[in-house]
Amino acid sequence: MSDNWVEVCAKDDIDEEDVIRFDHAGRTFAVYRSPDDAFFATDGLCTHEKIHLADGLVMDDIIECPKHNGRFSYKTGEAKGAPVCVDLKTYPVKVEDGSVFISI
Ligand code: FES
Repeated sequence: MSDNWVEVCAKDDIDEEDVIRFDHAGRTFAVYRSPDDAFFATDGLCTHEKIHLADGLVMDDIIECPKHNGRFSYKTGEAKGAPVCVDLKTYPVKVEDGSVFISI
């Protein structure tokens, strides 16, 4: 049984096709809302250098890192090419009563 759900924010605090930074217990995450209104979460830092992905750009199902334009699928965490070659970790997300939760 998973009891490690952590509340991130209200659903409407994240615009569609956008991402926010979420810090919890000394870790940082990125939480995304896709253009088709689904929510996803990954580690918050790029696997190339430790840059906050929430400062990057969301395009369809891709997050583009603000530093060297490395790209990941925020749905699967898959690194999509140079300079990023290490995938991001992803986390389960649920929306309940208008709030977004991630399981960490
Ligand atoms: S720090 Fe993200 S691509 Fe280099």
